[in-house]
Amino acid sequence: MTTNNAGDGSRISYFAGQFVPHEQAKVPITAHVMNYGTGCFEGIRAYWNADAAQLYVTLLEEHVDRLLRSARILKLDFDGTRDELCSMVLELLRRNDLREDAYIRPLVYKADETIKVMLTGLRTELAAYCQPMGAYLDIDRGLRLTVSSWQRIDDNAIPARAKVIGSYVNAALASDDARQKGFDEALMLTGDGHLAEASSSNLFLVANGRLFTPRGSDDILVGITRAAVMELAAEMGVGVSEASIDRSEVLAADEVFLCGTGVQVAPVTEIDGRIIGAGAPGQVTLALQKRYLEVMRGEVADHAAWRTPVYDAPAADSP
Ligand SMILES: Cc1ncc(COP(=O)(O)O)c(C=O)c1O
Repeated sequence: MTTNNAGDGSRISYFAGQFVPHEQAKVPITAHVMNYGTGCFEGIRAYWNADAAQLYVTLLEEHVDRLLRSARILKLDFDGTRDELCSMVLELLRRNDLREDAYIRPLVYKADETIKVMLTGLRTELAAYCQPMGAYLDIDRGLRLTVSSWQRIDDNAIPARAKVIGSYVNAALASDDARQKGFDEALMLTGDGHLAEASSSNLFLVANGRLFTPRGSDDILVGITRAAVMELAAEMGVGVSEASIDRSEVLAADEVFLCGTGVQVAPVTEIDGRIIGAGAPGQVTLALQKRYLEVMRGEVADHAAWRTPVYDAPAADSP
């Protein structure tokens, strides 16, 4: 198994316009982003398919497009194109020779060394690293969640549609609190008391055979996995509604699950001591989880556009 985290110089990251040994990818303590969180990022997964001897990057263009949108919202003067960013991610994985499930983290940030709290005109840099990554949360058992007393930061405080580095203080407060209290994760409410999302994933519930998920205007990061799950559900004949969701609606649901690049599709079986549905991962959730993972790992032929292969295909007559 390749790990590339051995500190032996084999781990490569992208920094200041080039691929460098990971140890050289360092931001000075005076950088604007280090002081004020003024940058944005993406979290991208890649799944290893042993039969095909191929690493497939999940929804690469969608992640790169969101990074570019986040950068615009944060006034990051970034002139890289979608194609250049996609190529950089693929080259990063190749240079690290990752041949197992992996995670890629590109960051675009204010690199200028100034104390001024501002956005306009500051120098922007792009950096990226990758690492092996299996499951982020255990997705085989049901998760136990709590509704956090930390409110999801409002779109008028930090833009929810941008994946802003500084806004993850909000996520860390909620998720840390939940874990300290013995839960697996936190659900967060909007200022007007509706469900927004979990600390770093989107929320779905199943009621009467239909999926419901909070609207984009309910202070969520509009997830890329969320969109894929909605499309897969529709293909499976399961209706989907985006709606404002009350706290009691989620407690009364037949099934609840979280989804996101990190958590994948993760069943929830308990919220604040209330058992959800039958207290075990639900049928709709499990069917979607299976379908999502087989599509992204390339175990089925359809949705090929959601998988970008990292390595050249082996020659037809190679063993
Ligand atoms: C706050 C938040 N919401 C939702 C998500 C899920 O988004 P995606 O499916 O694009 O990974 C994430 C993870 O990236 C997140 O950090």
